[in-house]
Amino acid sequence: MNILFVGDIFGSAGRKIVREHIGHVRESHQVDLTVINAENAAGGFGVTPQIAEEIFGWGADVLTTGNHVWDKKEIMDYMNSAAPESRDHARRVLRPANFHPDSPGFGVYEGTTAGGVDYAVMHLQGRVFMTPIDDPFRAADALLAQIKAKVIVLDFHAEATSEKVAMGWHLDGRVTAVLGTHTHVPTADERILHNGTAYQTDVGMSGPYDSIIGVEKELVLHRFLTGMPGKFEAAKGNPKMCGALITCDPATGRASAIERVMLGE
Ligand SMILES: [Fe+2]
Repeated sequence: MNILFVGDIFGSAGRKIVREHIGHVRESHQVDLTVINAENAAGGFGVTPQIAEEIFGWGADVLTTGNHVWDKKEIMDYMNSAAPESRDHARRVLRPANFHPDSPGFGVYEGTTAGGVDYAVMHLQGRVFMTPIDDPFRAADALLAQIKAKVIVLDFHAEATSEKVAMGWHLDGRVTAVLGTHTHVPTADERILHNGTAYQTDVGMSGPYDSIIGVEKELVLHRFLTGMPGKFEAAKGNPKMCGALITCDPATGRASAIERVMLGE
């Protein structure tokens, strides 16, 4: 079984490059399950219901988000519109499971692929150098106690490499893949851990790499050089689709391979 995980889509440049590549990547690798982080797909800040629907139209099964999930307010009603047992698109847009329990939406989705394999996608957010939220390690344990599927993919949206590596080892042998998002810079440490979990600290953003993590470089540089606030805008130059391809045994959920993906224009 093959899984495609696509890193944080950033703005229109990110949407364009993923739209360009996702079809041939899914086809040539016989992808059974596609998970896309869409946290910054709307102009670099959040995601709208319309953009979520557009991404589902490319063949995504589940969308994940992160700390910017509520930047576009309309996503709250969209996520609130889905019942827990629903398989609608609105139910397949996740926010981190360790957010406040009254937050809109859900942090886990359990579905079945077209080929009949049950899977789960879990979404958690880190706490190191980020807004204080519930313990992602305990939240992972609680989710795993409920999930019946063997094939389980975690998007761990976190800043610190240490926290992400720790989550990889914490879940080794218990999930198919632990994939990091949020930093927008891909790491070169993809590997299969000892007990069969595919791991990469950060898969990198799908967006403009002639930028400072997606934002127009002059605007961010101005803030670093002067300390003065200013409006951030999504950059456009040098777009790349980044992500990871994972191969696993659908019967056990154990991963046998992970490959980094970085595709430009
Ligand atoms: Fe983020």
